[in-house]
Amino acid sequence: FSAFLTDSFGRRHSYLRISLTEKCNLRCQYCMPEEGVKLTPRSQLLSTSEVLTLARLFVQEGVEKIRLTGGEPLIRPDVLDIISELRKLEGLKTIAVTTNGMNLARLLPKLKETGLDLINISLDSLVPAKFEFIVRRKGFHKVMEGIDKAIEMGYNPVKVNCVIMRGLNEDELLDFVALTEKKPLEVRFIEYMPFDGNKWNFKKMVSYQEMLDRIRQQWPNLEKLQTGQTDTAKTFQVPGFKGQVGFITSMSEHFCGSCNRLRITADGNLKVCLFGNSEVSLRDVLRSGAPDEELLQIIGAAVGRKKKQHAGMFSISQMKNRPMILIGG
Ligand code: GTP
Ligand code: 5AD
Ligand code: SF4
Repeated sequence: FSAFLTDSFGRRHSYLRISLTEKCNLRCQYCMPEEGVKLTPRSQLLSTSEVLTLARLFVQEGVEKIRLTGGEPLIRPDVLDIISELRKLEGLKTIAVTTNGMNLARLLPKLKETGLDLINISLDSLVPAKFEFIVRRKGFHKVMEGIDKAIEMGYNPVKVNCVIMRGLNEDELLDFVALTEKKPLEVRFIEYMPFDGNKWNFKKMVSYQEMLDRIRQQWPNLEKLQTGQTDTAKTFQVPGFKGQVGFITSMSEHFCGSCNRLRITADGNLKVCLFGNSEVSLRDVLRSGAPDEELLQIIGAAVGRKKKQHAGMFSISQMKNRPMILIGG
């Protein structure tokens, strides 16, 4: 495995998340401030060919999985071209997307045909009016249609990301678990994380332990499942249910020790940690005409500076970072 993608703690970074756009057709409260964010001028965003050049380089060094994020990746007009070019990269095993699901039903046949392997869909409420309150737009039925169609088309597992926030959607925890009785979904409850502009506070966060306790009151026989070494979620299943539930415990039980993820922002910065604010512009290096070797040195140096773990939860909430919409999760 490439030394450039191995950090000083021996973690091998074989999973790259590329943000394709800063724009989104929703306005989720936990992701961006109501007034929106200042968008980077188009000329400073990575072009199709720059995205592909970087992807090729990372795959050559050992990246096996690429996830396309945003903003909302499926609003980028060239998303199908990008997937079809990624598909040609030898060594890249998995192409995934994290989407809000708004355009999914419409795009699914093309996405499948082009070679998209995995789909994660954000959905934070099963009540249309509450969905609209959280995402500040309409669209509940479009998202549900996207989820059902992804299942129908054979995507497995279809993962549903649900950020649980106190006083907002915590009362739907059991309804989301119940959804996994008939649908072969993996519903993942995510601890609410602080980012610039999302008004996080400790009291709004519902911890893994609390969620688990509440679910166990209803389903005491909830069973823990085996998970992969680098998975973000701890997964469980109610015996007899078709689907599963997972917990992404970034706040209460971080999983930095097995982190294998690197990120490229839409404006071309390499971000070695979700909560790290030391970024390096790969776009500028690319545009200077530098050879691969120089890019790799710069990538290697950034990976080499990656910290053992993100700081504790209170320091994360005070540190400067980007708003989530400008990171991509
Ligand atoms: P899989 O590839 O299906 O395992 O998905 P994923 O969990 O890596 O990606 P997804 O985009 O679905 O993200 C789900 C949640 O996990 C989001 O809230 C992300 O911010 C969070 N997440 C993803 N990667 C990391 C990470 O490296 N560190 C932390 N703390 N959270 C992460
Ligand atoms: N805390 C936790 N998860 C978040 N996401 C977006 N913002 C936050 C936050 N503040 C999740 C969304 C999306 C994924 C990429 O990140 O649910 O599915
Ligand atoms: Fe858009 Fe996703 Fe952010 Fe919601 S979480 S505003 S869907 S980018």
